[in-house]
Amino acid sequence: MSINLYEQLANELDALIAQRMFAPGDKLPSIRHLAQQKRLSVSTVLQALRLMEDRGLIEARPQAGYYVRHRSRMLAALPDPEPLREPAYVGINNTLMRVLKANESPQVVHLGSAWPPDELLPMRRVQKAVASVARRDPALLSKVSCYETNEPAFTRQVVRRALDWGQLDPAEIVVTSSCTEAISLCLRAVAQPGDTIAIESATYFVLLQLIESLGMKALEIPTHPKTGPSIDALELALDAGLVQACLFIPNANNPLGCIMPDENKRRLAALVARHKVPLIEDDVYRDLCFTAERPWPIKAYDTSGYVLLCSSFSKAVTPASRVGYVAAGRWAQEVALLKMVSSGSTSQFFQAVLADFLNGSSYDIQVRKMRRVLAQRIARMSDAVCAHFPSDCSVSEPQGGFVLWVQMPQQVDALALHEEAVAKGVAFVPGPLFSASGKFANYLRLNCGNAWSDEIERAVARLGQLVQRHAEEGSPDMGRAA
Ligand SMILES: Cc1ncc(COP(=O)(O)O)c(C=O)c1O
Repeated sequence: MSINLYEQLANELDALIAQRMFAPGDKLPSIRHLAQQKRLSVSTVLQALRLMEDRGLIEARPQAGYYVRHRSRMLAALPDPEPLREPAYVGINNTLMRVLKANESPQVVHLGSAWPPDELLPMRRVQKAVASVARRDPALLSKVSCYETNEPAFTRQVVRRALDWGQLDPAEIVVTSSCTEAISLCLRAVAQPGDTIAIESATYFVLLQLIESLGMKALEIPTHPKTGPSIDALELALDAGLVQACLFIPNANNPLGCIMPDENKRRLAALVARHKVPLIEDDVYRDLCFTAERPWPIKAYDTSGYVLLCSSFSKAVTPASRVGYVAAGRWAQEVALLKMVSSGSTSQFFQAVLADFLNGSSYDIQVRKMRRVLAQRIARMSDAVCAHFPSDCSVSEPQGGFVLWVQMPQQVDALALHEEAVAKGVAFVPGPLFSASGKFANYLRLNCGNAWSDEIERAVARLGQLVQRHAEEGSPDMGRAA
């Protein structure tokens, strides 16, 4: 994928800010000056500045120009990943259910689950699509088909939107009730209980829950907080015959927020094809990445059908529709059969509603807005963590999505911290729930999707004080097994 002139300029200016050539509060050179100096058009410079604004690095001040945003305190980068461990059965379900239940309490400020807030979703437009489909095709309100589970208007939109990066074969698409269902079906289609699934370290806890509930093992591949899983480490594991399938989130990994570079995606697709090992790709955040161009999925580099691409419209349109899909490559028939016997067809009415929404410019306008707002909200949360947490904490620099991953001092046990924080009215997700082997004991994930408020600022401040106390005194021993 080629990089645009404006993205190039934005990256150059980003680097100058990172090197402190421009400090927080400094004014950037004027648009005209930058255009002359770089021999670019004014509109290219403007695009670059808007991209940097979306990334939360600068802010426009009316009549005054662009300024570097204040960060109360810059934190160190996250550390590099640890070496490869042994495959292991996963055992997070019980702890996770306890944490999620506590996070649901109405008394807490919700910095836990990563659902988009209603205010960011296109509810009016979805309501219009619901009314229009119900009027146009009322039979869909009662339609359930056992064999034709895909609504053609919906799959057409999925294929059309994939044209950005390549071509999907409509015959390989299975419509599912969410991205989670798509991944679950893929795991069942490509692997057996006892098989080992290579995952990123850290990864989204529901993926671990799926592996656990299917009686499979997980192998955590060392994962860099900026570039994702180490392809060399995965190659070693594949050469040793340790892995029967891979399950990765290449675009805006949850919780790290990183995007795998194109070259790694290309290598990965070739590697799994060479080893004849399926790779399940969770691509739910691709349209919510903050890069100038939407990144490509690994599937874009797949020439032999070993990549199973899963996604949904839960994050950017309506989580409640529960419409997702998988382009299942070589496993299309197996996945389609499993879908049919597991849950029959996904609501054909809601497939048609999404097709209506996707047919036009509404979706692009929606994701453009979400990307801009989410990048700003992440930057705001990052500032607050810098201001209120001890200085030896580190924060991720997400390139998409809406979560922030925070490393705390070694003495802090995130699970113990969570119990105390919930009692004091702040919910988050503790780090060990993102690992198959109990790693990330001193990490936590914060949801940044909600509009900034005094209540959130106070919650982050309270959490920062608790982290400080746990760091000084050590977290209380909660009597858990190691
Ligand atoms: C990486 C990732 N995949 C999938 C999902 C869930 O998507 P869906 O609601 O379509 O199952 C989430 C939600 O948090 C997620 O973070």
